[in-house]
Amino acid sequence: MAAGKAGGVVTAALEVRDLHLTFNPGQINEARALQGVDLTVERGQFVVILGSNGAGKSTLMNAIAGVHQPDSGSVHLDGNDLTGVADHRRARHIGRVFQDPMAGTAGTLTIEENLVLAERRNGRRRLRVPRGAEHHRELLSQLGMGLEDRLSTRVDTLSGGQRQAMAVLMAIQADPSLLMLDEHTAALDPAAAERVLDVTTRLASQTHITTLMITHNMSHAIELGDRTVMMHRGRVLFDLDAEERAGLTLPDLIDRFRQLAADELSDRTALT
Ligand SMILES: Nc1ncnc2c1ncn2[C@@H]1O[C@H](COP(=O)(O)OP(=O)(O)O)[C@@H](O)[C@H]1O
Ligand SMILES: [Mg+2]
Repeated sequence: MAAGKAGGVVTAALEVRDLHLTFNPGQINEARALQGVDLTVERGQFVVILGSNGAGKSTLMNAIAGVHQPDSGSVHLDGNDLTGVADHRRARHIGRVFQDPMAGTAGTLTIEENLVLAERRNGRRRLRVPRGAEHHRELLSQLGMGLEDRLSTRVDTLSGGQRQAMAVLMAIQADPSLLMLDEHTAALDPAAAERVLDVTTRLASQTHITTLMITHNMSHAIELGDRTVMMHRGRVLFDLDAEERAGLTLPDLIDRFRQLAADELSDRTALT
């Protein structure tokens, strides 16, 4: 098990324990978004999260980032209890990329200015000499999109795929303890989505950054990363490690989901 130690206790990178979160409690529009989520992620692991609309995937990320405070349960990052810690204080340790290609980069700034911004976000690198154009060209060449020759191009002239690839690169440049990607390729055309996913998995594995990635794509969910977590109705329905995923086909995954979701539904009906 790849784990660090804090005060003699072995800790995972991320530990989510029995997280509950209800929106608009007691109201007609009450939504029990998280109903006891447990999730342990080892350092450097890449976890793909899957689940139907409203399953609680984005809420889980928002609760981890501190955007929404849970009703109960806890979130530990690198052994530190984040319960009650404000989102802006967590931001240095958590990188996020969302669906909207406009959100992760500053459009009116150049490619290089965006990279400098990302480096400044990293507390550890702030004291060092600013990185030069050569370093930035090297970083950008990893994207395989020719952006290394366009350092002074404004980012709002790039395609959605190029912007998302930059957003991923910048999130990783800030060297967070955890990277969370919420359907970050969903707004792109299929070819651009594939390129951004390729960049994402390549950079994440090179840098060994602990990553959670939400996707709607079932094949991506079993092919990419190290683990597949299926969420359903505010809970983790199943969690497959590399061994359990090996040889698993798409129909197997769908069958598994149907079976477990049906069991869960009948359990709940039996309880009421
Ligand atoms: N800010 C919010 N206010 C009220 N209800 C919300 C809010 N965010 C999410 N919800 C509700 O919580 C549930 C889970 O939503 P969400 O986490 O966005 O699901 P997913 O990302 O899996 O599609 C849904 O019923 C949704 O309508
Ligand atoms: Mg969502």
